[in-house]
Parts: sequence; structure tokens; C-alpha cells
Amino acid sequence: MNSVKALAESPDLNFIPSKYAYSTNSTELPASDPQDLIPTIDFSLLTSNDPDLRSQMIQELDYACKDWGFFQVINHGVPETLMNTIIEKSKDFFSLTDEEKKDYEEKDVLDPIRYGTSFNSKKDKVFYWRDFLKVIVHPEFNCPDKPEGFREVLLEYSKRTREVAKGLVNGISSSLGLDQSYVQKALKFESGLQIFVINFYPPCPQPNLAMGLPPHSDHGLFTLLINNGVDGLQIKHKGKWVNVNNTYPNSFLVNTGDQLEIFSNGKYKSVEHRAVVNDLVPRISVVVVNGPSLEAVVSPASALVDDEKCPGAFVLMKYKEYLEMQQGNQIVGKTALDRIRV
Ligand code: OGA
Ligand code: NI
Repeated sequence: MNSVKALAESPDLNFIPSKYAYSTNSTELPASDPQDLIPTIDFSLLTSNDPDLRSQMIQELDYACKDWGFFQVINHGVPETLMNTIIEKSKDFFSLTDEEKKDYEEKDVLDPIRYGTSFNSKKDKVFYWRDFLKVIVHPEFNCPDKPEGFREVLLEYSKRTREVAKGLVNGISSSLGLDQSYVQKALKFESGLQIFVINFYPPCPQPNLAMGLPPHSDHGLFTLLINNGVDGLQIKHKGKWVNVNNTYPNSFLVNTGDQLEIFSNGKYKSVEHRAVVNDLVPRISVVVVNGPSLEAVVSPASALVDDEKCPGAFVLMKYKEYLEMQQGNQIVGKTALDRIRV
């Protein structure tokens, strides 16, 4: 595998190889800073025993999911030291030699551990300026044996982020007008899939010509993201690309995914997002994708279905099949979800 990290480290790299040349639609304006504040969810209020405080946050969450598909979560209870350590260990993974990393090279999209480059290097016509490691950490926990100490940190991080995910799932259940535990039960969240992803974006000599990750939506219910303090994430908001910056330190950046769009019968649409690169410093993002059980067939919640929005809006399939379809192809915006729209 030809990692972009190795490429970026080659001496005198002044131009990107042509296979990395990504052209955005020329009618598309460059990203700007958001006009409105990115919604903020205070997790301690969302999970509060005080019904008034909780219901206020539920309303916020409803707005964030409907209008943005994106929000930052503060007071989430995951220790700052753990967040810093997981970033450090993630950096250490990419500092392993090519020989060491080769053991984890991806063969199949459902491999529990897969190291790769671009999005799907077997299918991509244009390559993206990104290397990645994806690890399934739930319902079975997996972890590469290197770097040293990675396992303990990853296990703790996946447990703690799953608690946050559970609080959000319960909040979303309420904000959709359902019983608090409805989503957990309907989607078998206790045995839900959790994928831990490290994205590594090395400095790029021509950052305006390359793309870290192209516009896409995530396949799960929602995704939690932190990074090494370097910006690069952009989301599509009201038809325009906006930079995600000036967020609270140590917050989780959360975006809604395709399975939530299906479950909510289109009320909460998965948000398109992308990652751009820079020519100065490496950017690392650490992402946790939270989904239903791989065996669950996600369908719109019956309470959210009426004559106008009939349940036939999507072809129903197991999450596992959806995941294979989404990960096994090139990615262009929301093509995976569009493919199963009726
Ligand atoms: C992803 C993703 C964005 C980023 O991993 O799905 O969208 O900022 N990452 O790295
Ligand atoms: Ni994504």
C-alpha cells in the first residue's frame, strides 16, 4: 500500500501526483465560516434528572439535528487526559514503520482492523490525501498490538464514548417524541456497532488541489469526532460549505448519520461533510461511528410514519448490508443512502 504519509515525507515533494488531483465543481463557492453559532449540547443537562433542564436540552437537540445535523457536545464526562492520550496513541500508530503497519492492511470492508489509504483505494478514481486505521471496538473489542499501551487506552476510550453515545441516543429518542429507551431497544443498541477510526492527513504541498475526504455522509446513527487541534472539517449547512472552527476545547463534534435518517423517516437527515488539508502540519482526527446492531434492520419508527411519509421511502436492509455497500464503493455525497431511496 502506498500511504500518503510516506509520499508526503518524500524529499522535495512540491507537487501532488496527478492521481490526487481533485477538482471541486467550479460553481461551488469555497467554504466560509458559519453565520450562525454551531449548536452546543450540554450533555450534563441532557442527562439531568431535572425534567425542565432535560427538556430544554432535548429541544436544542431537536433543532441541532433538524437544522444542522451537526453539534458540539460539552460537559460529556470523558476526561480530558483520556482524550489527549487517545490522540497521542493515534499519532504513535502512524509513526510505526510501514513494515509494522502492513500487518493491518485492509482486505475486506468488514475486517475488524484495517489500515488503508484514501477512501476505498480499490475503487477510488481520484485518491484522497488521507491514511486511516479503522477498528471495530464493539460488540467485540479489537485492537492492533502496537503501539505499546494502545489497547488499554482504546478500551477505555470506547467505553466512555459509548456512554456518551447512549445518552445521545436516549436524547434523540425523546426529541423524536418517542419513549426515552425506544431507540435503544428498537435498534439493539446494547449490541450496537462501534467503529473507531483514526484519520491521518499529512501536510500537502498543494492543499487546494487535493482533498482529505470528499463530501460524504456517515453510515451509522451518529459520529463523534475529536482532532489534534488542527482544523479541516467542513459541513454542508443550508447548501453551503462551512468550516468547523472555534468549537469548545475538549468537546465532541457530532454529526448525524444515514441510519438515523432512515430511522427518523427523514426528519433528521444525515449531514454531508468533508475534510480539507493544509500544507503546514499533520492533522489527525479520531472518530467513533456509533451504529445499531449489525443484524438490525433499521426501518422508520412507526410513530413517525404517516400517509404522506409512507414507510416505503427506503429499501430496508440489515445495517451490515448497508455498511458493506457504503464502504465497498466510491463515495460521492449521499449516494449510498440515495441508492436505497424509493
Ligand atoms: C470521517 C470523517 C472528517 C475529519 O472519518 O468519516 O468525516 O475531519 N472525518 O477527519
Ligand atoms: Ni465522515
